[in-house]
Amino acid sequence: MKAIVMEPLAGRNQLQLRDLPRPAIRSGEVLVQVKALSINPVDHKTLQGKGQYENIKNDPPLVLGWDIAGVVVESAATAFKAGDEVFGMINFPGHGKAYAAYVAAPAQHLALKPTSVSFEIAAGTALSALTAYQAIRKAAVRAGERVFVQGAAGEVGFFAVQMAKALGAYVVGTAKAEDEALLKARGLDEWINYQTTDFEQVTQDIDFALDTLGAEAAVKALHILKPTGRLITIPSGKGEAWKAEAEVRGLQADFLFVHSSGEDMQVLADYLAKGLIQPRIAHMFTFDEIIQVHEQMEAGTLSGKIVVRLES
Ligand SMILES: NC(=O)c1ccc[n+]([C@@H]2O[C@H](COP(=O)([O-])OP(=O)(O)OC[C@H]3O[C@@H](n4cnc5c(N)ncnc54)[C@H](OP(=O)(O)O)[C@@H]3O)[C@@H](O)[C@H]2O)c1
Repeated sequence: MKAIVMEPLAGRNQLQLRDLPRPAIRSGEVLVQVKALSINPVDHKTLQGKGQYENIKNDPPLVLGWDIAGVVVESAATAFKAGDEVFGMINFPGHGKAYAAYVAAPAQHLALKPTSVSFEIAAGTALSALTAYQAIRKAAVRAGERVFVQGAAGEVGFFAVQMAKALGAYVVGTAKAEDEALLKARGLDEWINYQTTDFEQVTQDIDFALDTLGAEAAVKALHILKPTGRLITIPSGKGEAWKAEAEVRGLQADFLFVHSSGEDMQVLADYLAKGLIQPRIAHMFTFDEIIQVHEQMEAGTLSGKIVVRLES
């Protein structure tokens, strides 16, 4: 089968198109023929020797990618049978091996894809959607609460806005002017232009803030919380100044790291089927273009959700 393998070459990890045997499945796994996959920022960080690199480096062949949507062609699990259309974030944290025509996936990391959504939409609704969902669930966001989403037009932020709205929250978010209309159409109640306005000066009394920027922005997000407010921050490696600030202010603040969960994917499937969430796909590529996609990521010329379509 076709796969993109990461190999050390000339002092850095490089991607190569290779022909690998189809993976064998173990008990509890299914073999998925991949129809679409999504590329996340963590994929590129892992290629650069950061992200999940330490977790996968001793498990060759190294195959990047975690988000897939496809069809079960072989099953060693009771939950799914051959022919089922599924989607999910596979083995995260860990070795997802998603840049391949076939992926051996634990059944407990998958959900059935709603028939009303395409494989591309489903693949775009995994890691970033799970992150938003797991943050909102951890913070136990309730109807009527005031939710603040930093980077509301970003991959995680865009899902967080839609999910908070689906729960009945009042949603405030920061984004560029060009994203205001789309965000409002997907449920944002109050838009703050981060290019012209300091959010701390214009919003207060927030019950839950999702920080997608880290560093000073995470600290500032604490300043807009109610005394009972909660902060969840997701960027890693941006310092932990927010911890001390939360302690001084007596506020609940946590870092969240997303993890694979079929149960949570089922919630995303229900949201998708009801039209409550949708990914914001910025770029669509073919499998053979994956290496170029990473070259563009390296050059910083690609942003937004990237989905790769595999030919049947
Ligand atoms: N802990 C976890 O499990 C986990 C999971 C997923 C992601 N992450 C991390 O979380 C972060 C966000 O991920 P993502 O995929 O959502 O990234 P993303 O798609 O790049 O979103 C970031 C958003 O922040 C916006 N932004 C940039 N500067 C800003 C500012 N000064 N004020 C307000 N907004 C600003 C960007 O706006 P523009 O669109 O206008 O440029 C962009 O929309 C990344 O660091 C990622 O690595 C962590």
